[in-house]
Amino acid sequence: MIQSRADKLLAIETSCDETAAAVISVDSKSVRILSSTIASQIPLHRKTLGVVPEIASRAHVEKIIPVISEALSKAKLETISEIDAVAVTYGPGLVGSLLVGTETAKTIAYARAIPLIAINHLDGHIISAFAEKKSPAQAGGQISISNIKKSLPALALVVSGGHTELVLINKPFSYRVVGRTVDDAAGEAFDKIARLLGLDYPGGPAIEAAASTKFKVKSKKLKIELPRPMIGSDNFNFSFAGLKTAVLYQVRKCKKLNKNQQAAFAHETQQAIVDVLVHKTYRAARQFKVKSVLLAGGVSANKLLRQTMGEKIKQLSISLHIAPPELTTDNAAMIGLAGGLRYLAGKTVNWYDVRVDPNAGL
Ligand code: KG4
Ligand code: ZN
Repeated sequence: MIQSRADKLLAIETSCDETAAAVISVDSKSVRILSSTIASQIPLHRKTLGVVPEIASRAHVEKIIPVISEALSKAKLETISEIDAVAVTYGPGLVGSLLVGTETAKTIAYARAIPLIAINHLDGHIISAFAEKKSPAQAGGQISISNIKKSLPALALVVSGGHTELVLINKPFSYRVVGRTVDDAAGEAFDKIARLLGLDYPGGPAIEAAASTKFKVKSKKLKIELPRPMIGSDNFNFSFAGLKTAVLYQVRKCKKLNKNQQAAFAHETQQAIVDVLVHKTYRAARQFKVKSVLLAGGVSANKLLRQTMGEKIKQLSISLHIAPPELTTDNAAMIGLAGGLRYLAGKTVNWYDVRVDPNAGL
């Protein structure tokens, strides 16, 4: 589809605990974020130290229209009639949460007789790694189509609360999962271990913050050494459940963790997870002889992961694309960027063709 002018896409994301909308501008050379709005449910789920699906769906129902309306006005659009298509996450995720986003998107598409673009949440995370900011003031960034083509074949590491996958991308829209977690996701490990350590929710940022505080472990009895699960295995799969159990056993040896011990555990946990993620990504990038590595998903907000991955991938003399920090955790701009690319390729559907798929694979 060749664009005579920049078309505008509305993007909607409600797969888990963030109600998000964005407006994206699409022309034949680039896909650009005009606005991005998120109503976070983190304060709501902090009380239960995790997402309660029913509470999440209800919050999406309350927030979805105000969030869309804010995204439109931030993009300086007066009404929804200026939108040419709607991109929405159809899965994977929580079924009740996904339904709020998809039904809203279908209603808009039906009422306005405009096309829909169904986006896999993981595709959104992967594509966000290509986003670049042309100026600090630019909302979120943009993707140049020629840059994507130059970067392929690429290997993406998607690390979030629900997924840890190594994905090979040989050509646009063609994904092959070459490795994945066999139990917990990396983000899930951060969240569960934070809980064991008495740290805040979500666990990733809490562990990162605790790990960066200065600490000194005085007790000789408490020597914190955690395993690097499956780091030496000859496949590209991951496992993080054993790490959580190892923390549990060592925490039990202490009566109540003091700040010093919390920091020491946080430091070793973060280092163990980063070591495994970087090592496996490096080996896969070398084996598949890719031109670039992409790092995306909530856990890619982690500074130690970003820095260590940068240093390791440099050894292969290939490029590393990392999602800008504001696009790492769930947002609708990433769904709009992936949607814009599919829109340009004519991959649109009618409202009645969209079905939610809580277990959707890539
Ligand atoms: O992509 P995301 O927002 O949602 C899912 O699709 O799951 O990822 C959320 C996950 C949570 O597990 C959270 O603890 C983790 O990303 N996370 C981090 C950091 N920020 C978020 N993990 C490590 N370091 C961080 N700075
Ligand atoms: Zn996500």
